[in-house]
Amino acid sequence: MNREIQDAAAVAPFSQMAALAVSVDESFIDRARNVLQILINDPTAVLSRQLSAQAGEYTRHFLFGDGMTSAWAFAWAPGSKTPIHDHHCPCVFSVLDGVVTESWFEQVGEGETVRLIGSKSRDKGHIAALRPSRPNIHRMSNDGDALAITVHIYGFNRRVVASSVDREYLLAT
Ligand SMILES: [Fe+2]
Repeated sequence: MNREIQDAAAVAPFSQMAALAVSVDESFIDRARNVLQILINDPTAVLSRQLSAQAGEYTRHFLFGDGMTSAWAFAWAPGSKTPIHDHHCPCVFSVLDGVVTESWFEQVGEGETVRLIGSKSRDKGHIAALRPSRPNIHRMSNDGDALAITVHIYGFNRRVVASSVDREYLLAT
């Protein structure tokens, strides 16, 4: 997906379509941010579900889905982490409770191997957006000692595509 948009931008008439694709993403991201801010202001609808996960694991809880949008809450137990991955669709997430760590990676060459380029703790109230129109290889983890709850809104139809993940990557040794 990323490579397709970059290739189109190299040919003049098609660059407008690439810009259009980005603007669609931005509209989606703006709306998702608004929804997440509402949930941050009053997280009762999610936190009242008393989501949980066993040590070292995370769980995913479906919240909403339609033809363009799929949203889940995640419960992150201490020690849990996702595979290193990127997305084929916009992903906007927020932290409703606790602290999670977001780490970013860059590819080493053209393959599946990546190296760490940055990492940040994301506290309650944080909202982040990932766009499929640029390299966005990341991993979410709970490096703390308390449960964390996040909500993720993706721009894809879960009934058509099985996952928001485009690819998974391996950390360079
Ligand atoms: Fe992700």
